[in-house]
Amino acid sequence: MKAAYMTRFGGPEVFAVGDLATPQVRPGHVLVRVEAAGLNYYDTLVRRGAVSQAIPLPHVPGSDIVGRVETAADDVERFRPGDAVIVAPGFPVDEADWQAEKENFAPSYYPGGTFNHGGYAQYMLIHQRWLLKNDTGLPAEELATIPLVLVTAMHTVGTLGQAGPGMRMLVHAGASGSGSMAIQVAKALGASVMTTVSTPRKADLARRLGADEVVFYRERNFADAAKEWTGGDGVDVVIDNLGGSAMRDNVRATRWGGRIVNYGLVAGLETTLPNIYEFFRGQYQLIGSFMGTLGELERGLRLVKAGKVKPVLDEALPLNRVREAHARVDNHQVAGNLALLPWT
Ligand SMILES: NC(=O)c1ccc[n+]([C@@H]2O[C@H](COP(=O)([O-])OP(=O)(O)OC[C@H]3O[C@@H](n4cnc5c(N)ncnc54)[C@H](OP(=O)(O)O)[C@@H]3O)[C@@H](O)[C@H]2O)c1
Repeated sequence: MKAAYMTRFGGPEVFAVGDLATPQVRPGHVLVRVEAAGLNYYDTLVRRGAVSQAIPLPHVPGSDIVGRVETAADDVERFRPGDAVIVAPGFPVDEADWQAEKENFAPSYYPGGTFNHGGYAQYMLIHQRWLLKNDTGLPAEELATIPLVLVTAMHTVGTLGQAGPGMRMLVHAGASGSGSMAIQVAKALGASVMTTVSTPRKADLARRLGADEVVFYRERNFADAAKEWTGGDGVDVVIDNLGGSAMRDNVRATRWGGRIVNYGLVAGLETTLPNIYEFFRGQYQLIGSFMGTLGELERGLRLVKAGKVKPVLDEALPLNRVREAHARVDNHQVAGNLALLPWT
């Protein structure tokens, strides 16, 4: 089968596109013919070796996979050849963790395409436990932009951020893959949303997705803007995929007793709370968030089917343009997500 695989860790040039052996079906597993694979910032962390240097090479990344069942093992009852399917964007590597009530809290949980071969290929193998029927009716290249960011938004914005009517949320990087979905989920759950962007094109997208207020963060301090937007109070919740240098202003942007839900590190791995007295005096909550459960993904897909949440496809590219696709993510040139097409 054709696949895009990394031969070492590093920049986009580590990808080769060529033939790899098609995986053999084993008990409980399904071979999926990949129609489209979404590309996430996470894939660039895998590529750089920032997730783990223990990933065996050559490696096929890709957490977001939409396709059809090619073949299923004899003991698989829920799926038949030809079924339209979505692969869970993350699952515990260790089968002993599969019954965990919240699988994203299991120690061996990783986004797909970390320690298994993922979606940058014509076929991928997955256990039926981590496969969903696709009844969204959406084109594969659009749907493939969704699973990872949708499950994350349901967990981050819904479960941990407790978005609801009357709540004011600051969602960072509103045109990013994760931010574009977080805005939509926050709006679908009834919250008001302020977001940060760098360009007018990204601002237009954020507004189309429902953002009530858009800040050009390079021109204006976002904490000042959040204070002004909330009449001096600060927002109830910050949905933060930036970390690093943004944390100082995240606290300032938040009202006393509010929550900062961090789930990313685009602005740096290390972060500092500016003043621990002010932090505990303001009784802030700083919460970490990682992916979500299959149940949260299913609830998110119901919002998709109801038309309340839409895919944000920047562009679908043939698999052999994988290097260019990764360079575009590295250079912040993507609005929403890219998808890779392994059969064109
Ligand atoms: N914990 C989880 O479960 C989870 C799930 C999904 C994603 N993530 C993490 O979330 C982060 C974002 O992922 P993604 O896939 O959404 O990335 P992405 O689509 O590549 O978008 C990142 C965007 O961040 C914006 N940005 C950079 N610096 C900024 C700043 N200082 N302030 C505001 N915006 C800034 C850039 O847009 P501009 O041009 O507007 O600056 C850039 O395009 C990554 O760290 C990823 O690992 C975590």
